[in-house]
Amino acid sequence: MIDYYSTSAEFYELVATRHTASSGPPLTRVLTGLDVTHGPVLEIGAGTGRVTEVVAAALPEAEILAAEPSATMRAMLTSRVARDPDLRRRVTVVDGAAQDLVLPERLSAVVIFGVAGHLTVPERVALWKRLADRLPDGAPIVVELMGVSSPRHIPPVMSLRETIGRQTYEWWIGGEPTEGDAMRFTTTWKVLRDGRTVREVADSYDWHTFDVARLAREAGMTSRRITEAGGRPIPEIGVLVK
Ligand SMILES: C[S@@+](CC[C@H](N)C(=O)[O-])C[C@H]1O[C@@H](n2cnc3c(N)ncnc32)[C@H](O)[C@@H]1O
Repeated sequence: MIDYYSTSAEFYELVATRHTASSGPPLTRVLTGLDVTHGPVLEIGAGTGRVTEVVAAALPEAEILAAEPSATMRAMLTSRVARDPDLRRRVTVVDGAAQDLVLPERLSAVVIFGVAGHLTVPERVALWKRLADRLPDGAPIVVELMGVSSPRHIPPVMSLRETIGRQTYEWWIGGEPTEGDAMRFTTTWKVLRDGRTVREVADSYDWHTFDVARLAREAGMTSRRITEAGGRPIPEIGVLVK
């Protein structure tokens, strides 16, 4: 697995704050009331733990297994879990990529936000099969997409602008089709002070595009799409149900 996230990890919380504000409420609605007695809730690619907090709040009785392969992102995840007594009691943080994650025998649900496109189709198919073998009938795999269901040219746009202290942070992102279902996204963080750029951190990552119907076919599960919450558009979420 390529660690795409360490280069820009210092900025990730800025993205995650906005992301969780929009994706958190629909995720809460999907999870609330779920039976969590079958096993832990697995979060794949838990990042810095913002979504982990949403899962924990929606399912106050659940044990949570939060897997994150990037050491830099995992450091923030562990820090977030360690400073909250409730998370500390219920969340186990592990290193591991979706492709080779050591899984418990039973799971109650799975949350995979902003991650699935880092896997190729055969890797996703293998993952859905391993998860299905551990989930009870009716249990969900909640997948957050990235708003691109097929490769296309996306010109660089400033997606976020935030101020911390005396500095302003801008996040620029654009993408190009590469091969088959894949796109390469290029992102640049610009740090500005007194209107001047004082630092730039650029990186890129590959993303295999898909839509929810395609995931359902790969997994042999039923699916539903969630594209808005409270009347507002949100990054698309798919719920696969075994
Ligand atoms: C866009 S971030 C999303 C983080 C978190 N889920 C959230 O929504 O805030 C993607 C995360 O997936 C992780 N990741 C990348 N490739 C992965 C893989 N093959 N398996 C599991 N996690 C992966 C990255 O290290 C990163 O933390």
